[in-house]
Amino acid sequence: MRKKVTVVGAGNVGASCAVRIADKELADVVLVDILEGVPQGKGLDILESGPVEGYDVSVTGANNYEPTANSDIVVITAGFPRKPGMSRDDLLLANYEIVRAASEQAVKYSPNCILILVTNPLDAMCWTAHQVSKFSKNRVIGMAGVLDTARYRTFIAEELQVSVENVNALVLGGHGDTMVPLVRYTNISGIPLSELLEQAVIDRIVQRTRDGGAEIVKYLKTGSAYYAPSAATVEMVEAILKDKKKVLPCAAYLEGEYGINGLFVGVPVKLGARGIEKVYTIKLTAEEQAALQKSAASVRELVDVIKTKMGS
Ligand code: NAI
Ligand code: 2OP
Repeated sequence: MRKKVTVVGAGNVGASCAVRIADKELADVVLVDILEGVPQGKGLDILESGPVEGYDVSVTGANNYEPTANSDIVVITAGFPRKPGMSRDDLLLANYEIVRAASEQAVKYSPNCILILVTNPLDAMCWTAHQVSKFSKNRVIGMAGVLDTARYRTFIAEELQVSVENVNALVLGGHGDTMVPLVRYTNISGIPLSELLEQAVIDRIVQRTRDGGAEIVKYLKTGSAYYAPSAATVEMVEAILKDKKKVLPCAAYLEGEYGINGLFVGVPVKLGARGIEKVYTIKLTAEEQAALQKSAASVRELVDVIKTKMGS
């Protein structure tokens, strides 16, 4: 039997995820959105690409969760994207309500699924979905690190004029301005980045990575990035469905790792059929550890706002 993936939110990221999942023939896809006709229309349009692209998966759309029953993975992209001048954190309370409702419904119909969160502010939305679903921590995962690392790898490859495939890297921390690209763990086919680029150039690339989302928002003006975000999300979907045991930076619920407790923060994990099968704790310098703590503190601020809201 084919696998089944539900994508909640049939907007730019959600629809692009559905296209990529179908193109790779990974699973049947159900798109869910509150907009009447939009998930149905986009679903049918993607389905009708099948004969040309040569995929045999079903792609459907709905305005309720019944058709999502027994999904293996539910990807939540529902929510507002950023507009110019907005930070990801400005989206907090509006998207909290959306993610809370979406998680509740999704897990009601797919109690055994794995949840992948995309909606921003990412780390706080993971925390929300974890609370609502009451799933074990391995089954709630946030997409951000794969995207942030892809941007970092792109800029390095461009600077060195080498294949993106040769750039191995890791961006940790929350999905925000305090994210932590780990320069010391970055290499080009095994050659440390610091051997190939001046520190000033590396610093510029690190800053461009941190501003990577805003750079796209500035161009688009009416929304945020979706091609690279959907590619990153579907890399995670594929790793889980195919039990690939891929090591990727993802937002994971930490219980003491890196000195962080009770929060979702981006760290290297092993992704397989059980979701997060391992959190890797790697050695960090005092400076890197401090940067990660600073990033975790900004995630905690948002989670505290949600906790206050939940208590009110
Ligand atoms: P979009 O506006 O194109 O799509 C969002 C969709 O969610 C809309 O179709 C809307 O009708 C739908 N929606 C709203 N409330 C809903 C509900 N209660 N149930 C179901 N659907 C609902 O936005 P886009 O570009 O797809 O971005 C979606 C989210 O993903 C945003 O919060 C954005 O900031 C975030 N994002 C996160 C990234 C990451 O790295 N974690 C990367 C890119 C985007
Ligand atoms: C991004 O990084 C907006 O979080 C989204 O593109």
